[in-house]
Amino acid sequence: MTRALDTLLPIDEGPEGRLMDAVRYAALSGGKRVRPYLTLHTAALFNVDAKCALRVAAAVEMVHCYSLVHDDLPAMDDDDLRRGLPTCHIQYDEATAILAGDALLTRAFEVLSEDGTHQDANVRIELVKELAKASGPLGMVGGQMLDLVAHHHNLDVNEIARLQRMKTGGLINFACVSGAILGKASESALHKLHSYAHDLGLAFQIVDDLLDATADASAVGKRTGKDEEQGKATFVSLMGIENAQAQAGLLRDQAIEQLDVFGEAADPLRDMAHFVVNRVS
Ligand code: IPE
Ligand code: IPE
Ligand code: MG
Ligand code: MG
Ligand code: MG
Repeated sequence: MTRALDTLLPIDEGPEGRLMDAVRYAALSGGKRVRPYLTLHTAALFNVDAKCALRVAAAVEMVHCYSLVHDDLPAMDDDDLRRGLPTCHIQYDEATAILAGDALLTRAFEVLSEDGTHQDANVRIELVKELAKASGPLGMVGGQMLDLVAHHHNLDVNEIARLQRMKTGGLINFACVSGAILGKASESALHKLHSYAHDLGLAFQIVDDLLDATADASAVGKRTGKDEEQGKATFVSLMGIENAQAQAGLLRDQAIEQLDVFGEAADPLRDMAHFVVNRVS
């Protein structure tokens, strides 16, 4: 994965080279690579050419890395540690970090639109549309806005679930269905992957909130205890740690149930559901 990103995000020797340095800093320095894993393993269910799947996996990771760079900015979560390293705006500066995020977002769509992503232009358009929906106002950035205003409103569990679905679920959903789009999968297969992604995405964000509440920065590579400090409404703040853990476990089991139709070929996706809930970083 890192190799694909390295190739798709080349060093720039010009006077503007600082931008690509910051882009590469944000995209090539670790991370669990959950979303690309999902794209690659859902694509494998439909025998998609691995070279095509890798490009889509790289595109979704670019959007994810952009979201982290902007999420860490002083105007948002104001964080100085990410993936065990100084955040992009600390390592470079705020303006460079904003531009690096912009560059990652736009480059992702460029990659999707290029011929190498799929021979059928309709498939490429479908990928562009779905990634735009997942990361736009009804998806990730809408969820980030809700997250920022959440403490002014007393959100209930359903509203928090909606926030999380938008903020985190959208991109995880795209990661899962992009493999099916590449493979021109049937409606029913697509539906199963949507359901899997829905439960997995929610479990993923619940565990992120649990780690924020319970883990050390040295273990997770980012500051913890921040959600409570910033008055963020999360499943943990609403339900408490034990109920949130139980909820994540339920969602994991529900996600795995959706995979029955795919047989053993879906084992990597079952493994991911376990990983998401058991992870310590
Ligand atoms: C963190 O995502 C941000 C959320 C959406 C909760 P990850 O936990 O996938 O971050 P990396 O990519 O592994 O650093
Ligand atoms: C961020 O959620 C989700 C994004 C869209 C980037 P968080 O703010 O909880 O992510 P972390 O905990 O900083 O990784
Ligand atoms: Mg945030
Ligand atoms: Mg954050
Ligand atoms: Mg968090």
